[in-house]
Amino acid sequence: MKSFEEEFLWFSEFGLDTSKVGWSSDYKASMHERMDGALEAMNALEAGAIANPDEQRRVGHYWLRAPHLAPEPALTEAITDTLVRIDAFSKTVHQGHLKGEGGAFEHFLVIGIGGSALGPQLAAKALSQGSADRLKPHFIDNTDPEGIAFVLDGLKGLLGKTLVVVISKSGSTPEPRNGMLEVAAAYAKAGLNFGKHAVAVTGQASELDRYAQAHGWLARFPMWDWVGGRTSELSAVGLLPAALQGIDIHAFLKGAAEMDVYTRSPDGQKNPAARLALAWHFLTGGKGEKAMVVLPYKDKLELFSKYLQQLVMESLGKAVDLEGKTVHQGISVYGNKGSTDQHAYVQQLRDGLPNFFATFIVALQQDAPFLDIEDGMGCGDFLNGFFLGTRQALHENGRPSITIVLQSVNPHTLGALIALFERTVGLYAHLININAYHQPGVEAGKKAAATILNLKRAILGYFKQNPKTEATAKELAQFLGQDHEAENVFWLLMSLHANGKIRRADKGLGLEPSRSRFAAK
Ligand code: PA5
Repeated sequence: MKSFEEEFLWFSEFGLDTSKVGWSSDYKASMHERMDGALEAMNALEAGAIANPDEQRRVGHYWLRAPHLAPEPALTEAITDTLVRIDAFSKTVHQGHLKGEGGAFEHFLVIGIGGSALGPQLAAKALSQGSADRLKPHFIDNTDPEGIAFVLDGLKGLLGKTLVVVISKSGSTPEPRNGMLEVAAAYAKAGLNFGKHAVAVTGQASELDRYAQAHGWLARFPMWDWVGGRTSELSAVGLLPAALQGIDIHAFLKGAAEMDVYTRSPDGQKNPAARLALAWHFLTGGKGEKAMVVLPYKDKLELFSKYLQQLVMESLGKAVDLEGKTVHQGISVYGNKGSTDQHAYVQQLRDGLPNFFATFIVALQQDAPFLDIEDGMGCGDFLNGFFLGTRQALHENGRPSITIVLQSVNPHTLGALIALFERTVGLYAHLININAYHQPGVEAGKKAAATILNLKRAILGYFKQNPKTEATAKELAQFLGQDHEAENVFWLLMSLHANGKIRRADKGLGLEPSRSRFAAK
């Protein structure tokens, strides 16, 4: 077992402790050459090589915080111009020069999903200054009508002072498109011109881009094909909402840029991302054999587990490697926050299945005052005590952990934290030889949903044309020439019935809806 003196790395406001990983010097030495290869591959990626071979794309999120490193002047210019525009736009909003129809903007509503929502949500919570936020953030990140209605209800009477930021790289993802149309309808109902309250962050000439232009939206900010959704927090996707909220986006970018300097180090021992990637490899056998449980001991970082879940699982969860060999790779990520989780699943972590490793994230500085509750000890001391106690208890039971230490949670350290994990994912992907930058599974889900919606349309069309027919799901699937879809037809009939679009012809079969007959209303 390595000592904490040997395994603790510290860089001004940030530290990494791998003393509870349980690895040996021999293991590290055995991986030396592979890690050198991964570091070289990252250098090539940063220099502009095609790093996403399936989509023939470059991977440039590191240029966002060091525009001078972009491989072409046009890219450098695009990044810096966008930053200037974000600064200017948010300043105009804050100064009240750009207003809504109800007065100066006091709220902003982000509509996006996945990589176009998780980062902005994380930053909004982690870096909020509470009542001092310049604009108050709200989010719609799904196509759940009740979820949308809930958010709109919270903005009742305030839409005229709310700036809507619609974020979608592709500009054609159904969830944000639907959310945007629902919100636009709410503005129309309130007698407000939606376009005068809306901005888009999207790829050039995307469906959303064209819609925003055609409807006279206030502004459009770019998303580039060389920035992936889950690594877009330091592009306009994350920076625009953060700037509107009054977060210091320059400190955010600086923190990421500084971490990039540390994680470019060719010395795998001193490079925190290399060390973290190697720890993941050791702890999961390079095959994701153990899950990563993320335990930030800080309420502000509660969403970091969700953010990391996407970054890691969408990047590493792949069926084939770069040679096309079936590998079914990934690392499962879950978590919430400490010490809250000590009263939930930590019992199993300590005593139950040893199928995980923990990643603790702690902030040394407690940025809010707290009472002396017991012998000079207050809330913050308890929080710190619970972190160290849990870490120790896991260690004593042979449960490995990694600890990341921040001086405090602020824009600079959050930028660093994001950059650390972005590069760790990149390096780990090289160690296991997979493409971390595509998401065929997400695309497949989008296509499957479109097929289901077509089936639903076909069912409704059938009942319209055959108002007297009463049919079971199986029969209907046959009538539609889709015998193989009988089960999906059944689920769609249930949903259509629950929403009053069709009727059940034989109410007596309530307990066996799969044998029930459905008909037009
Ligand atoms: O990381 C990703 O690529 C995805 O999670 C996307 O961000 C998500 O599917 C949303 O896509 P879009 O921004 O194109 O609407």
